[in-house]
Amino acid sequence: MERTGTSNPCPRGATEPQPEHAGLQEVCPTASGAQVRRVPGSVYEAEQVWLSWSEQLLGWGADFHDLMLGDELRMRAYRQALREAVVPGDVVVDLGTGTGVLARWALEAGAARVYGIERDPEILARAVVEAGEAAMGDTFVAVGGLSFEVTLPEPADLLVSEILGNLVDNEDCARILDDAARRFLRPGGRTLPQRAERYLAPVEATLAHAAVAALETVGAAGRFDAYYDVILPRSGYLASPRLDRAFALVGDPAAYRSELVFAVDRPGTFTGFKG
Ligand SMILES: C[S@@+](CC[C@H](N)C(=O)[O-])C[C@H]1O[C@@H](n2cnc3c(N)ncnc32)[C@H](O)[C@@H]1O
Repeated sequence: MERTGTSNPCPRGATEPQPEHAGLQEVCPTASGAQVRRVPGSVYEAEQVWLSWSEQLLGWGADFHDLMLGDELRMRAYRQALREAVVPGDVVVDLGTGTGVLARWALEAGAARVYGIERDPEILARAVVEAGEAAMGDTFVAVGGLSFEVTLPEPADLLVSEILGNLVDNEDCARILDDAARRFLRPGGRTLPQRAERYLAPVEATLAHAAVAALETVGAAGRFDAYYDVILPRSGYLASPRLDRAFALVGDPAAYRSELVFAVDRPGTFTGFKG
């Protein structure tokens, strides 16, 4: 089965076509004279492929973070959720703090202190600078390292994170959040988000499908089993997305099976599922 959800962070914002972009693509000439289908308002090509198994997983650059910071839907939802979830005086853990944006919003919402855990030293350095510029003083505590290897000096009231992939659990959030909730939260501590739902749609993405099939590591035979990320306008959907699974985010089973039935809306060539 080919699943065209995100498995690394790079195109997250762009993989979710906004309604106004649905079905739209710009055709742009490239320097070589070839044409690419550009996603309007984006630097990305339609059906551009990102591979989940690439080293990029450990090398999210500043560009990826800027892309996520530009995802207005995500940003608005988290800011509002933090306003509602933070009780003044809370000790908060921001797991995967990145640029520290959620930590800053938690402090704005009244948190006494935020421990921002981040495995990427470069982006954590940016978070420290931005916290300094925002005059957060020592209320933002930068903690470098992988969450599994980190210990904190005090239990937290709230664990906030944004380590969800387009398929929800494809960035290993279940294992990461189970461990973090157990070791960082006080008894009765809260998590944000508390749950997530995954929707899937059968899609026609023939360019991406061919690009993946051409890879030595995948080959034509394996392209339905490959797991990659692709920008796909709504016009590529063969049926409306359907709810596939609800996640509690802490205590979810590591392995499961699901069955879905779709009624397709239009003729086309099925190349995989997008999450
Ligand atoms: C999607 S980004 C979110 C960054 C920031 N919280 C935001 O909302 O813009 C996820 C970040 O979590 C970090 N990360 C993921 N898993 C981690 C782990 N187990 N321990 C530490 N950092 C982690 C990644 O390096 C990345 O910077």
